[in-house]
Amino acid sequence: MNLPLIPHSRPVFDAPFEQAAKQTVHSQMLAQGEETTALEADISAALNIPFVLAIDSGTHALMLALRHLTAGKQQPRVAMSSYACASLLFAVKHIGGIPLFIDCDAFLCMNKDHAFAQAAMADVLILVHPFGMIEPLAAETFPCPVIEDIAQSVGGSLADKAAGSFGDMTIGSLYATKPWGGAYGGFIASRDEHIIAKIRNMTDPDRADISQAYAGHHQLSNMHATLARQRLLVAKYELGKRQEITKAFAALVENTSATWISSQAGTTGNHFRFIVRCINSAEDCIAAFQALGIGASKPVIQPLHHSGKTLCRQTDLQWQHNVSLPVLTNFSAQEFERMSQGILSCL
Ligand SMILES: Cc1ncc(COP(=O)(O)O)c(C=O)c1O
Repeated sequence: MNLPLIPHSRPVFDAPFEQAAKQTVHSQMLAQGEETTALEADISAALNIPFVLAIDSGTHALMLALRHLTAGKQQPRVAMSSYACASLLFAVKHIGGIPLFIDCDAFLCMNKDHAFAQAAMADVLILVHPFGMIEPLAAETFPCPVIEDIAQSVGGSLADKAAGSFGDMTIGSLYATKPWGGAYGGFIASRDEHIIAKIRNMTDPDRADISQAYAGHHQLSNMHATLARQRLLVAKYELGKRQEITKAFAALVENTSATWISSQAGTTGNHFRFIVRCINSAEDCIAAFQALGIGASKPVIQPLHHSGKTLCRQTDLQWQHNVSLPVLTNFSAQEFERMSQGILSCL
């Protein structure tokens, strides 16, 4: 019997989203404008960081933050976790930079020694909070500037300090499936007004000084901002739902041979993803879930160090055995039951 697929992600866009989008269309102001500015204020309040710039994507937010921090440098070196989203690598390629990959630990956070060794050779470190968990090394002082990436873990905290408050700059994503997802989008947050003003100059070619090295159309539209603003309104509720689901799944995993990869002591994640380490290969496990109509997936399709020559042995091991399961805030009762059976029979 072919069961309807439970997808890996299924963000809710219900009546309030429709209503808000309708109002924005009705305003006839669809490019950047008042909604964009209001979203920047919403994000600033939510993160308690005074200056925020909404950007057309998280990848471009990273790229612009990197351009700012490495201005005037030829082939800047950028350190980053290998077990992370490919957007990081492509943002570095965009600025003509050289990536320095960092191996992970058993919690999918950075291996401390490797992180410091790579940061010592880097012009910038992108510090990612992975998969809804919090990177404990965020509290450390690194020998280079840090861009803190909260795309997946916004809402989490470390020793009661919110994720996003540690780096020299903070970036996030507003992509549909992310915890703050609208449709597309991203943001940069900083305590320094001048940094945000300088980066803003890179987001509008028509207004940019034509002698500057780079500008592109990177503003976030009113339409995208409207959708992201609606998500922010329900973000805490959705986090609570994911927390409930995670708790139930974690209890089931206890009865299997797999291990739930949880947030580390002293950190509070946002339960964006539910990742388990399987005894069997991730591929076999994913196939078993898919046979039950469950859209299990690898947390990252390919570790980033596979693009170069750095060895990241722990990352390879994790990549071979880790599986990410759907955590949908709108699971039906039948879907939740199927997920529960899947966890018990496939892991
Ligand atoms: C950790 C992380 N940073 C940055 C990005 C890039 O965000 P966007 O998809 O909005 O370009 C992603 C996207 O998946 C991500 O997971």
